[in-house]
Amino acid sequence: MAGNDFDPGELSLFDPRFISDPHPVYRKVRAQCPVAVDPFAGNPMLTRHEDIADALRTPGVYSSGMDATALGNQRPLIPLQVDPPLHTEYRKLLDPRFSRARVRELEGDVRQLAGRLVNDFVENGRCEFNSEFAIPFPCSVFLGLMGLPLEDLDTFLALKNGIIRPPATDQQDAEAARERAARKIDDYFTRALARKKKNPGEDLMSWFLGAEIEGRKLTHDEVLGICFLFLLGGLDTVTATLGCSVEWLARNPVDRARLVADPSLLPGAVDELLRFHTPVVGVARVLRRGVTLGGHEYEAGQPITLLLGSANTDSDAFKEGDSVKFDREPNPHLAFGAGPHRCLGSHLARMELKIALEELHKRIPSYAIADGEKVRFGLAIREVECLPLVFPPGIRTQADAS
Ligand code: HEM
Repeated sequence: MAGNDFDPGELSLFDPRFISDPHPVYRKVRAQCPVAVDPFAGNPMLTRHEDIADALRTPGVYSSGMDATALGNQRPLIPLQVDPPLHTEYRKLLDPRFSRARVRELEGDVRQLAGRLVNDFVENGRCEFNSEFAIPFPCSVFLGLMGLPLEDLDTFLALKNGIIRPPATDQQDAEAARERAARKIDDYFTRALARKKKNPGEDLMSWFLGAEIEGRKLTHDEVLGICFLFLLGGLDTVTATLGCSVEWLARNPVDRARLVADPSLLPGAVDELLRFHTPVVGVARVLRRGVTLGGHEYEAGQPITLLLGSANTDSDAFKEGDSVKFDREPNPHLAFGAGPHRCLGSHLARMELKIALEELHKRIPSYAIADGEKVRFGLAIREVECLPLVFPPGIRTQADAS
């Protein structure tokens, strides 16, 4: 095993070229050392598929406790920042609400929403895909699921951005901005819960009010911890995946034409594009006991990053991992994590992504990135910040209900 003496050289994780094309850095970091050092925070990073899959499945050593990440929250994000065995109780409660069958029931409404959003720009021959589709789409699905008013879309987006993209120039400012945003989020959900208490519905927020673990009702703080996490985990991830996927399809017309001609390829394509782009580039853990990694000893309390993007392009796990193959089988990618904290919303996310591409391609089968426009990539998570598309103007098609 090589040491952790990764020399990022010209290309590093914080180089703009890495942001638009991370694969060369992933290759380099894996080849040089299974345990690299994050040049920014100085923390070790696991880089290989096998090691990362093991770490994700060993929460007794690689803990997800609150000290693994600083997001301005005063209480743990539930279930993300809770270790088993309590974590297992939360997942037993939440998993059935996000099962494949439950998600299938939402498909009709989600399809209508996707159709309406594409209809709004289909006749224009151009759109900025992020602001006109990839941002409002998952956020509207989410408001519906929670039973929150659609008019809150902009408030909701601003609340979330206050945590993910705090308006600040340095670390200290960012932490203060996150704490302010976290208080506003708590206030927003506290008011919404009070309304639901008076007027319960069939939605998730109303259900939280009566939900029980270990024979007792969830406390107000626990419900806030869950809502806070849903807001942070369920919106930008889908937006980012959609942006990266559509950007890739715009630049690869032959592959896009295959999807348009044969939508049965879509489920495989959605997963393969998730693997290839891995929008959640890495996840945070903190060591619960001392371990030796890459020949170095690390003590309990050491924060550590699991570089999912590197795991997902590791040639030991994926033949030709730097190429997109819609029919890749098997595809053991870690874009949704693995082990006890594997993404609660993966069925919802896959359904949203599949329907979005289906409804887009039904109306706009051919599109390209606008001439002279440069696509901007961001790294809060791996995302396309601005995606200007041009296409032959299409026709508004009634949004199907099924
Ligand atoms: C393409 C979209 C998505 C991606 C790439 C993604 C990715 C991830 C990843 C990598 C984790 C594991 C984190 C860790 O191990 O530390 C995770 C956890 C989680 N995700 Fe997602 N996610 C997506 C969509 C969603 C959606 C739509 C929801 C909606 C509720 C959601 C809710 C959660 C929750 C609650 C957890 C924590 C699970 C736990 O700790 O037990 N995610 N997600």
